Amino acid sequence: MKTALVFGAAGGLGRAITASLQSADVRVLGVARDEGSLAGLVCTSADLTVEHEVAAACLWAAQEAGSVDLLVFAAGRMAHSPLAQTSAEALHRLWADNLLSAHLVNRHATPLLDPQGHRVFLGAYVDKLNFPQLGAYAAAKAGLDAWVRVLIREERALKTTLLRLPAVDTALWTHAPFPLPRGALSPSAVGDEVVRCWREGKAGVVDLT
Ligand SMILES: NC(=O)c1ccc[n+]([C@@H]2O[C@H](COP(=O)([O-])OP(=O)(O)OC[C@H]3O[C@@H](n4cnc5c(N)ncnc54)[C@H](OP(=O)(O)O)[C@@H]3O)[C@@H](O)[C@H]2O)c1
Repeated sequence: MKTALVFGAAGGLGRAITASLQSADVRVLGVARDEGSLAGLVCTSADLTVEHEVAAACLWAAQEAGSVDLLVFAAGRMAHSPLAQTSAEALHRLWADNLLSAHLVNRHATPLLDPQGHRVFLGAYVDKLNFPQLGAYAAAKAGLDAWVRVLIREERALKTTLLRLPAVDTALWTHAPFPLPRGALSPSAVGDEVVRCWREGKAGVVDLT
């Protein structure tokens, strides 16, 4: 049986990705800020912006599974405020939840990945995020986009996917300055696409429309 390690497993997309993987007979290990929110899943807690917590979660995963076949980074946070009213602390926290978290997860979880394994990072259509009040979030997602693209080029031996998403109907949008856009995808469509990318070995930048 293949094993996947999902970071951000309690989020709308993390849960849907977990469900799609389980339907495909994949064993899922979950990491969430609060493992209590993940009843029924083999999981542990970590704040993904705190390096020793990410390292401990990866040690736990190594003890559970030895190595993993798929890593999924599905954590992040949206927040809105005009740039002039965004404090340095709020900016740092938002960038950490969206970008530092990916960096720490990659540093500590990639050593667990089977050499034939695959990493998937959820990204966004960064050029469509330039809305008033979303400056800090848009900058975080643009940073993540660039960060994954460089990772792909630096580590060509490993399959890595930046899966760019349009709007998806999750609780993320309760923190947006406007309602969920019409035509938003269902989280399960994203879960199924993650499984497809992995099964078909689709690496690089993949745009889900
Ligand atoms: N939904 C969309 O339309 C969409 C589109 C493009 C990209 N994305 C990206 O996809 C990712 C998942 O989004 P989603 O829609 O599933 O949002 P969500 O339902 O709000 O889930 C996000 C998850 O990330 C977790 N998280 C945030 N910061 C964390 C931290 N420091 N440590 C541990 N966990 C942390 C949250 O935990 P807590 O609840 O404990 O904070 C939450 O479980 C995000 O990066 C988002 O930006 C989403």
